[in-house]
Amino acid sequence: MFGGNGLCSLRWDEASERVEVIDQTALPHQLRWIALNTLDDYCHAITEMQVRGAPLIGITAGFGLAHAIAQDASDAALDAAHQRLLSTRPTAVNLRWALQQVSSAVRLLDPALRPDTALQTAQRLRAEDIASCERIGSHGLMLLQGLARGETLNVMTHCNAGWLATVQWGTALAPIYKAHSEGIPVHVWVSETRPRNQGMHLTAWELQSAGVPFTVVADNSCGQLMQQGMVDCVIVGSDRTAANGDVCNKIGTYLKALAARASDIPFYVALPASTIDWQCPRGEEIPIEERGVSEVLAVSGADIDGAIREVKLVADGVAAHNPAFDVTPAALVAALITEHGVFQANTESLHALQSQLDVV
Ligand code: MRU
Repeated sequence: MFGGNGLCSLRWDEASERVEVIDQTALPHQLRWIALNTLDDYCHAITEMQVRGAPLIGITAGFGLAHAIAQDASDAALDAAHQRLLSTRPTAVNLRWALQQVSSAVRLLDPALRPDTALQTAQRLRAEDIASCERIGSHGLMLLQGLARGETLNVMTHCNAGWLATVQWGTALAPIYKAHSEGIPVHVWVSETRPRNQGMHLTAWELQSAGVPFTVVADNSCGQLMQQGMVDCVIVGSDRTAANGDVCNKIGTYLKALAARASDIPFYVALPASTIDWQCPRGEEIPIEERGVSEVLAVSGADIDGAIREVKLVADGVAAHNPAFDVTPAALVAALITEHGVFQANTESLHALQSQLDVV
């Protein structure tokens, strides 16, 4: 059983031999699939956030590189496509990881053999992502079972770390889907996630489609909900986790972690091992994406006739600043939920995971 609503975020169409993705910029108002036909399409889809979420960005880039190799399998073309895809978004490390997986699978091969191997590698990454997220769900479920007292379990999440951000299941939402299907009464507090509102637009849509009880709240309500005893735990995803356990995730995550600590609520981070940057010793070295200020100065939504429109929020000429991610220090993280089990957010514990993975 898949813990969403039966959909996946990215599919390979055998007949046309091309990748199709859900255009996440149209959700929740329209469920629209788009085909990625060129390297430009892949880069555009990532940069413009038609696909987003660290694991899905990686998988999409892996298929993008496979597509480029099918057009031209020379070393020069491979390097150029790799670099182009790598520059689409700076923070989610799964992008770099997936591109490396595809590049290293084909690098030593005769160019004639590269297209098939590249595509098979991208397909493998997609399949492994689904399996990893399901395992994250099972490990997280055990934590939720430990918190459940027979009454409704209130879990808070931020941004979207559901199946739309991966291929299926999700990271932070996978334990919630598992708990719901196990009959644990779970309710989710979904924070809106300004400026792009991934909580309102995507997480709410996912949970509604799956029949999981939830309530959307303004980002600014979250500390008060925790203070009032209305939250049993917080679970978020990660875009890049440093080797010491510092977690980079959507802007606003850090404030939730601070509030959770002040109210003595466990703050969990769910992530596949591909989100750990073993070369990055601490969070302050993670590059934080700065996005266009129009995301802060305006909001998009559907008008009364269902047409998607952008609406200005402030007078022309007002200055704005838009960092897309923040870093939560490891000390605020109760545990990291991975496909390999639950780990403490510290260097020793992650070192044990690294040895298990045999990552150099
Ligand atoms: O800017 P986005 O929408 O790509 O950011 C996504 C997030 O921050 C998610 O919470 C994160 O990637 C975890 S995804 C499973």
